[in-house]
Amino acid sequence: MDTIFSGIQPSGIPTIGNYIGAMQQFVALQEDYNCYYCIVDEHAITVPQDRLKLREQTLGLAALYLAVGLDPQKATIFIQSEVSAHAEAAWIVQCNTTIGELERMTQFKDKSLKNGRTGVSAALLTYPPLMIADIILYNANLVPVGDDQKQHLELTRDFVERFNKRYGTEKQPILIVPEVKIPEQGARIMSLQEPTKKMSKSDVNAKGYISMLDEPNVIRKKIRSAVTDSSGKIEYDVENKPGISNLLTIYAAVSQKTIPALVEQYAEAGYGEFKADLGDAIVAVLEPIQIRQKELLASDELNLILDDGAERARRVANKTLQKMRNGVGLGRKVRR
Ligand code: TYM
Repeated sequence: MDTIFSGIQPSGIPTIGNYIGAMQQFVALQEDYNCYYCIVDEHAITVPQDRLKLREQTLGLAALYLAVGLDPQKATIFIQSEVSAHAEAAWIVQCNTTIGELERMTQFKDKSLKNGRTGVSAALLTYPPLMIADIILYNANLVPVGDDQKQHLELTRDFVERFNKRYGTEKQPILIVPEVKIPEQGARIMSLQEPTKKMSKSDVNAKGYISMLDEPNVIRKKIRSAVTDSSGKIEYDVENKPGISNLLTIYAAVSQKTIPALVEQYAEAGYGEFKADLGDAIVAVLEPIQIRQKELLASDELNLILDDGAERARRVANKTLQKMRNGVGLGRKVRR
């Protein structure tokens, strides 16, 4: 059975972009793959976090994983920092990655441009090696992510090939080269206020995103005030009508209808009617998830699932870490 790894940062509350780009795929894939889904809290601290809030968001995200339909019998759900192999493997990865490669990452370029190179942590640069470590430790073949992580996956593939060449043999590669899995639709959900910009949980303007925990009336209001255009026609044309095209993409993802079917359904309708229905469709998906998340947070079940997940993850991760240590020559050789 092929293996899947993916993760989400608890650096805020996930948006509907995280849901459509990542979580929906996670749920669908758990049926046919050996899945590891991680709450990547070590990635979250690459920018300053309030410690209590981070803890709350970490548990909140774990509860959301379950609330959207991940089944701990089928998938291993765990918190990154509870498996120490991640940080250890990341060091070995860093030692085999060049500064030039890391400086080319668009996410690093964007963030360091915004805050100035001297104002961001060194970990913002070395963030992709930690992500590489996450993936390789579980021998993942496939990594479901949104479009913005594609470049990090290319780096992962380059790294694995280099590492295997340096430390393995052609017959016995140490690490698995993973493939990226981007959803056909919804790989890049855009901001509701600036539809040429990616929707992000760290946007300063809360009207730009729908958080998975937004109240129903807030969701409806944000959709009503989403930026569209003056033509009033519901058509899918990303280039010329990015706002309505983004709303169509969201609608398709939450309703399981296709974009052409929606365009036909709303051929005679105006933006007002379309947005009212879209608001309802999002609420119909998110409200039950929110109720379930609250129940999970109030129960003991969540902690037991995370304990078990970390235990299972450690067993696999430590084996790969040992192979990496042997490959590089760290410590004494472990004899079995
Ligand atoms: P993060 O936490 O920013 O986002 C989590 C997942 O959601 C996807 N995503 C989106 N998809 C569609 N539209 C959007 N607007 C949108 N915004 C975010 C992301 O592509 C991602 O799949 N570095 C990663 C977390 C990570 C990871 C990993 C992922 C750490 N280690 C190993 C895969 C494998 C990140 O910051 O995702």
